[in-house]
Amino acid sequence: MKAILCKQFGPPESLVLDEIPSLKASADHVVIRVKACGVNFPDTLMIEGKYQFKPPFPFSPGGEVAGVVTDVGEGVRHLNVGDNVFSLTGHGGFAEEVIGKAATTLPMPAGMDYVTAASTMYTYGTSYHALKDRAALQPGETLLVLGAAGGVGLAAVQLAVLMGARVIAAASNDEKLAICRQMGASETINYSTEDLRERLRELTNGNGVDVVYDPVGDQYAEPCIRSLAWKGRYLVVGFAAGSIPNIPLNLALLKGASIVGVFWGAFAQREPRVSMANFQQILTWIETGQLRQHIYRTYSLPEAPQALRALMNRQVIGKAVVVM
Ligand SMILES: NC(=O)c1ccc[n+]([C@@H]2O[C@H](COP(=O)([O-])OP(=O)(O)OC[C@H]3O[C@@H](n4cnc5c(N)ncnc54)[C@H](OP(=O)(O)O)[C@@H]3O)[C@@H](O)[C@H]2O)c1
Repeated sequence: MKAILCKQFGPPESLVLDEIPSLKASADHVVIRVKACGVNFPDTLMIEGKYQFKPPFPFSPGGEVAGVVTDVGEGVRHLNVGDNVFSLTGHGGFAEEVIGKAATTLPMPAGMDYVTAASTMYTYGTSYHALKDRAALQPGETLLVLGAAGGVGLAAVQLAVLMGARVIAAASNDEKLAICRQMGASETINYSTEDLRERLRELTNGNGVDVVYDPVGDQYAEPCIRSLAWKGRYLVVGFAAGSIPNIPLNLALLKGASIVGVFWGAFAQREPRVSMANFQQILTWIETGQLRQHIYRTYSLPEAPQALRALMNRQVIGKAVVVM
């Protein structure tokens, strides 16, 4: 089978398309013939050796797939050969076949397409957990989303609208902000050209925002925390811009505010029942047409390095997906 391989840490351009032996399922695992693989931020970190988990060489990036089960290991009860599934594999998805843990592989709902299925678990799972379980976002509250046209950002915009919040989307260009509006954001801020604090003051009549969803970090974190309303919540989601901000803790004291960490992967392992209930809600919203992933572009397997490059260059709006 064909696979995009990382043979040594480096940029997307150092990945190679190669032929490797077909896979066999071990106990509690399945082999999935990959139909689509979502492209996610950790893929870009993993190939450069910057991610906490480093698979042995050679490995394929790609942690979220949809496809068809072709082999079932001992002890797997809920999956059969021929099932359409989505799976969080961690890595290995930029290939014609991948091994999935049975515990993180689920049957796809009838009628769902592979591209949607491969771009659902990670972004919606993270953002729903953040807004519901960590921020306890309430109808009528104001939410600011940074990096709002990115994978988890755009998911947060859509979910918050469904939860009844007023959403202010912030991103680096007007094309991205137009998509955020299409997805339900009522106001937007271009943080490349506008002063974030000033605009937030205007948009909230000086009251501040109730919740900030921050997957970007860097220089935006502090002005956002300074723009929180009384008892506001600032969600620490990620550091896509690279640097981890240092925040003066008096800012939390002055607003009676909370700085709240979000770690969806650990949550899903530690609280599988809540995570599964969240996921069922997300699937219901997708099946009833209330949630729809914005697909930036699909890429063929040989083009997968280009997909990673586009993500690193901040070009992707919503999700990029590799299709076999
Ligand atoms: N805590 C968790 O459980 C969890 C789960 C999933 C993801 N995350 C983290 O969340 C972050 C975003 O993930 P994602 O999948 O949404 O990624 P993404 O699709 O690439 O979106 C990231 C956004 O960040 C902004 N950005 C600013 N500076 C950037 C830079 N130097 N490089 C890349 N992007 C930059 C970009 O928006 P603008 O151009 O508009 O600024 C981009 O759209 C990552 O750090 C990821 O690790 C955390």
